[in-house]
Amino acid sequence: MKPTKFLLIVLFMLSASGFNMGYAQSPQLPNLGETISREIIAKEALKKDAVCTKCHDESETAPVLSLYQTKHGLRGDSRTPTCQSCHGSSEKHVKGDPVTKVRVAPDFVFKKGAFPVSDDKERSSQCLNCHTGTKRNNWDGAAHQNNGVACNSCHTVHKPQDKVLSKVTQPEVCFNCHKEQRVDTKKISHHPILEGKVSCSDCHNPHGSSGPKLMKKNTVNETCFQCHAEKRGPFLFEHQPVVEDCANCHNPHGSNISPLLKSRPPFMCQECHDGPHASQSPVGPSAAGKQAGLTVAPNKNVVGRACMNCHSMVHGSNSPAGGYLQR
Ligand code: HEC
Ligand code: HEC
Ligand code: HEC
Ligand code: HEC
Ligand code: HEC
Ligand code: HEC
Ligand code: HEC
Ligand code: HEC
Ligand code: HEC
Ligand code: HEC
Repeated sequence: MKPTKFLLIVLFMLSASGFNMGYAQSPQLPNLGETISREIIAKEALKKDAVCTKCHDESETAPVLSLYQTKHGLRGDSRTPTCQSCHGSSEKHVKGDPVTKVRVAPDFVFKKGAFPVSDDKERSSQCLNCHTGTKRNNWDGAAHQNNGVACNSCHTVHKPQDKVLSKVTQPEVCFNCHKEQRVDTKKISHHPILEGKVSCSDCHNPHGSSGPKLMKKNTVNETCFQCHAEKRGPFLFEHQPVVEDCANCHNPHGSNISPLLKSRPPFMCQECHDGPHASQSPVGPSAAGKQAGLTVAPNKNVVGRACMNCHSMVHGSNSPAGGYLQR
């Protein structure tokens, strides 16, 4: 056997047996291809950004480059916007107007500064280029869209923290425009909104909804049942205004009458039940008396928990004897 041939055979045997075993049996190595392409995507995106960032760099007083600390800054993700996806290609702004030599505004300006702000519909359409989908299906025609509120009236995109996305800071954003609700949430009885436990967006979809008042669900009640499931029923004896709308009696934002009541019982009940109280028995005339029994000495109907002294099951009763919501 020629020495070279012998060597080849030895090499072959070695590679077929133990020598290469380590590789053959090693677990699948991760596919590095994806990371490399992400790197390419990132480089390409940054190159596109450089059209703007060569001037708008870290020397800006307003935060611009901190965009890279947000989800819109994930340059390795091909879905991520570049500066121009939001602000438009803005050629005349980048190059300066060839005729007048003046730097005109970028195509889309979101915040007042050196240039006037773009129309709200134009601003929102830039965001909606990417953010359509279920949560914003009802944006068009909803209260906010209809009243000149744009996406960036609530959202800040260049800062690392977008206040409106956090339960704790979200109310501040809404209160900029909704003063009445700010007052309500500070009343004695309130949902723990300022405490950061319940947020406006637990009940509202600010982007639009198929329900009333931008409700997150289709009705007010469905919205409340998300957390107060025990009020859903079904009940053997229902109380009609409860089935209809919790907001008949409650102000969900806050009230000085606990628990979140719109007015004080017995008056609240008497807004609907204004006839004479039929109950002369089993509690006797002086007990139930008249519903509006204020012509005589105050009776049990109107003191303390008022009507709820007896009608404790205002939300509905499951007792076979609960037809009058007393048990
Ligand atoms: C996701 C959309 C979006 C992208 C991407 C984006 N911007 Fe903005 N830009 C905005 C919005 C909205 C504002 C208004 C202020 C805010 O929300 O932070 C703004 C504000 C600005 C301002 C004014 C700053 C101020 O607060 O007055 C400058 C300058 C700016 N952007 C430049 C850039 C540059 C440069 C890039 C790329 C690195 C970029 N933008 C990428 C949406 C975007
Ligand atoms: C050659 C330099 C230059 C380039 C390139 C440039 N800008 Fe500007 N930009 C300016 C100047 C100067 C202003 C005037 C306000 C200022 O001094 O910040 C301005 C203002 C803006 C404003 C308004 C900021 C405010 O405070 O009102 C936005 C938004 C903006 N540029 C976005 C962009 C975007 C997006 C690009 C890339 C497509 C870009 N710019 C490219 C120089 C530039
Ligand atoms: C070119 C597409 C594109 C455009 C234009 C765009 N976005 Fe985004 N946006 C994205 C992507 C991608 C994400 C990350 C989504 C994910 O992680 O699932 C995102 C995420 C977000 C988030 C969630 C951030 C978080 O921290 O969870 C908000 C809010 C948002 N965008 C608002 C806006 C607003 C407001 C505008 C217009 C000023 C806008 N976007 C324009 C692509 C875009
Ligand atoms: C009235 C205030 C308000 C306006 C206007 C608004 N948003 Fe939002 N947005 C919120 C709140 C609050 C949240 C967090 C709660 C939630 O997820 O619904 C949010 C969440 C988001 C998210 C992250 C969650 C998700 O849906 O994936 C995106 C993306 C978003 N908004 C995009 C937009 C776009 C695009 C517009 C304009 C068409 C817009 N928003 C207008 C208040 C607003
Ligand atoms: C830039 C101002 C602005 C901001 C910020 C804002 N809103 Fe509004 N909102 C409006 C305007 C304007 C209307 C329509 C007129 C009205 O009913 O007062 C409205 C209406 C509403 C309505 C009533 C809808 C209807 O059908 O009557 C609800 C609910 C609402 N906003 C919730 C919110 C929530 C929740 C936030 C914060 C996530 C918020 N808004 C932030 C301006 C704003
Ligand atoms: C527990 C659920 C809930 C929470 C949390 C909540 N809301 Fe509401 N909101 C409602 C309901 C229900 C209505 C409709 C009330 C009615 O029909 O009387 C409403 C109505 C509104 C309206 C319209 C008022 C009108 O008279 O047309 C605005 C504006 C509003 N809410 C803003 C907010 C803001 C801002 C926050 C956060 C600070 C918030 N809401 C938190 C349930 C809620
Ligand atoms: C995201 C969850 C959530 C939703 C949705 C919700 N609630 Fe509540 N609710 C709470 C929490 C949390 C409390 C406070 C419980 C506590 O303090 O022990 C509360 C308390 C209450 C109270 C008692 C307040 C008091 O002072 O004792 C009433 C009444 C009430 N909610 C009515 C409603 C109505 C009406 C709706 C629908 C418009 C609703 N809730 C929707 C979470 C929710
Ligand atoms: C007819 C008026 C009325 C309607 C409508 C109504 N409530 Fe009430 N609710 C009350 C009264 C009165 C109390 C106080 C009960 C008491 O003191 O015994 C109360 C108390 C509550 C409480 C706190 C005490 C408890 O029982 O847990 C919650 C939570 C509540 N209601 C949720 C709801 C929800 C959710 C709806 C809609 C499905 C609703 N309410 C509809 C009158 C009403
Ligand atoms: C928004 C109007 C409204 C309010 C407020 C209201 N109710 Fe009612 N209530 C009704 C209606 C409607 C019925 C059904 C009447 C019927 O079936 O004849 C009803 C039924 C009842 C019944 C059962 C009577 C029967 O014949 O079945 C009782 C008891 C009752 N309500 C007590 C109360 C009490 C106590 C309050 C205050 C906490 C109250 N209601 C607040 C509208 C209201
Ligand atoms: C001391 C107990 C008691 C108090 C307090 C009381 N009720 Fe009643 N109520 C009853 C009883 C028991 C019935 C059963 C019907 C009967 O016996 O005539 C009844 C029946 C009713 C009915 C249904 C029959 C009818 O008369 O229309 C309504 C509605 C009603 N009460 C409303 C109220 C309202 C509103 C208040 C508060 C202003 C109130 N009740 C306070 C014991 C009471």
